[in-house]
Amino acid sequence: MLTLTHISKSYGARGEVAALTDVSLGIGQGEFCAIVGASGCGKSTLLNIIGLLDRPDAGQVAFDRRVIDAGSRAEAARLRNELIGFVFQSFHLLPRLTAWQNAALPLQYRGVSRSDRRPRALEMLDQVGLKDRAEHLPSELSGGQSQRVALARALIGAPRLLLADEPTGSLDSASANDIMALLRRINREAGLTIVMVTHDRDLAARCDRRIELHDGQVVSAEAAA
Ligand SMILES: Nc1ncnc2c1ncn2[C@@H]1O[C@H](COP(=O)(O)OP(=O)(O)OP(=O)(O)O)[C@@H](O)[C@H]1O
Ligand SMILES: [Mg+2]
Repeated sequence: MLTLTHISKSYGARGEVAALTDVSLGIGQGEFCAIVGASGCGKSTLLNIIGLLDRPDAGQVAFDRRVIDAGSRAEAARLRNELIGFVFQSFHLLPRLTAWQNAALPLQYRGVSRSDRRPRALEMLDQVGLKDRAEHLPSELSGGQSQRVALARALIGAPRLLLADEPTGSLDSASANDIMALLRRINREAGLTIVMVTHDRDLAARCDRRIELHDGQVVSAEAAA
């Protein structure tokens, strides 16, 4: 469903920091991929380019063989809204909104009325096992619960692709396991394509496939055994 061809990206006024060099990669519909590699090797940069949050200096990103117009921010934003859900290490919940209001945010941005948002958000919270916390503020939730709210928010717009940058990075190992199990279940039951950056070798081993980066290049992209 997703094809990257000859992607390069560098940072700095003169492009002196090469974050990605000539990365080509295909990710199939329904795959659950881990992106692994040392700190600074370009994992987040790669995820941001896949998620159309950042543009490559060279190369192409295509969804379903349709090449994304690298020049058009409006087109990128529209596709991002329509196709992609994101979760991050640090949840990014809005502190003054309750769990269900946070989960419903993408619907609000799409102009869905409040009375229609609430039942859909409660349904999503139920799917991530958090219906009983719907009226709580983020400050009243544990890390694992906060990440479930973030996951509900990422999924509420029915994306084709879920991108997760260290989703368990700030959780204890029990909560990390719960989130991983939830991602695995969503992948299996809904056939959702997931790309997850992780430092955790055990979690990476539970994915279908590991894509390993080293200094901005793909050094291995093996399929599941
Ligand atoms: N906005 C930026 N400006 C300048 N350099 C950047 C920027 N973002 C990333 N870099 C550099 O690009 C390289 C790749 O960074 P990236 O964040 O993709 O690494 P990472 O693999 O996600 O690391 P980590 O595991 O620590 O999150 C690093 O050398 C980093 O310092
Ligand atoms: Mg990173």
